[in-house]
Amino acid sequence: MSAGYVAVQWNPYKRRYDAFVCGAVVLYLGMFGFVGKLLFRGEHALSDEVLALRALGSCAFLMLSVVLCIGPAARLDRRLLPILYNRRHLGVATFLVAALHGALALGYYHGFGRINPLLSLLTTNTSFTSLRAFPFQLPGAAALLILFLMAATSHDFWNRNLSARLWKWLHMLVYPAYGLVVMHVALGALQAQRTWWLAALVCACAATVTTLHLVAGSRERAADRGRTSMIEADATAWLEVGRVDEIPPDRARIACAPGGERIAVFRYDGRISAISNVCAHQGGPLGEGKVVDGCVTCPWHGWQYRPADGQAPPPFTERVATFRVRVDGRRVLVDPNALPPGTPVEPAFVEESCDA
Ligand code: HEM
Ligand code: FES
Repeated sequence: MSAGYVAVQWNPYKRRYDAFVCGAVVLYLGMFGFVGKLLFRGEHALSDEVLALRALGSCAFLMLSVVLCIGPAARLDRRLLPILYNRRHLGVATFLVAALHGALALGYYHGFGRINPLLSLLTTNTSFTSLRAFPFQLPGAAALLILFLMAATSHDFWNRNLSARLWKWLHMLVYPAYGLVVMHVALGALQAQRTWWLAALVCACAATVTTLHLVAGSRERAADRGRTSMIEADATAWLEVGRVDEIPPDRARIACAPGGERIAVFRYDGRISAISNVCAHQGGPLGEGKVVDGCVTCPWHGWQYRPADGQAPPPFTERVATFRVRVDGRRVLVDPNALPPGTPVEPAFVEESCDA
């Protein structure tokens, strides 16, 4: 969190995870080389450089697909949350593999002439109007540039100094980057004899990423529709969240304000408090976290906030918006008008012993 910065945030769990990712990448590249040599022989034999290019390119694409699947998959199945906790390291590893692929392509196809390889990449082929001769390397290069920007700003230092909104916007560029890579591979496949199964793999990955996003999105929209019933009382339009007993102890129920804002309503220590559902770190869903040591703990990377004022415990300084709450009988009501981040709000007290 905000108190200080550490170059790379490793812990024993992350080290094991990173070792697993490195091992999987090395295994994939080795297998690709081995199977490639077996499959392409004689007149179809591929040079070591082309084999390495394809191995690195397809590995980076697979890794990028996994990175994009983790978010929606963790929404559909909470058991996958520990993988989400490590997504950032996987993203940086993806950039490194893609950069090796790009550097090798640049050296192999543009490194032996008299002009600078980068200039050669940008200027040699200008057939922008022909599908069959389009400079397919350019979408790949644009994607690599985006991956670089994301990897370079992935540290919490940038998250804090660029502002959460700009950082989020920058990191949403991963979707255009993915589209550019699909274009890179599809246009490349049109102009040379490529391994057909690589193109099939790319299509299958793109279809999986799209489907998972659609399913997770439609499930969330359906849940939001069931969370917006309003009640007039005390000249305030209160949002009905449900009954106290429907909120498990130290957990939350997520309510959806008429404007679409999600509110996490927590029950803890015989009290009810409501804070924004959006974590100040990377927008994680606070309402899917739990109260640990008296603080709401984000399920994504563990940032914490006090439920009654939305402030991170000292020495941290992050804050999220809070909401007024009241309990009417056993019904929990929330004022959907957000208070400024960090505003203390009196919790509503509930009789724990009355739980059915
Ligand atoms: C400067 C950036 C890049 C350049 C110059 C570049 C160049 C190339 C070239 C020349 C090939 C054809 C290799 C061959 O079979 O002879 C290729 C294939 C490929 N590239 Fe890239 N690339 C770049 C970035 C990327 C990125 C960022 C990714 C994925 C994240 C990627 C994924 C792939 C894949 C999957 C293939 C295999 C396509 C196939 O053989 O069917 N490339 N790239
Ligand atoms: S999004 Fe990272 S801790 Fe909440």
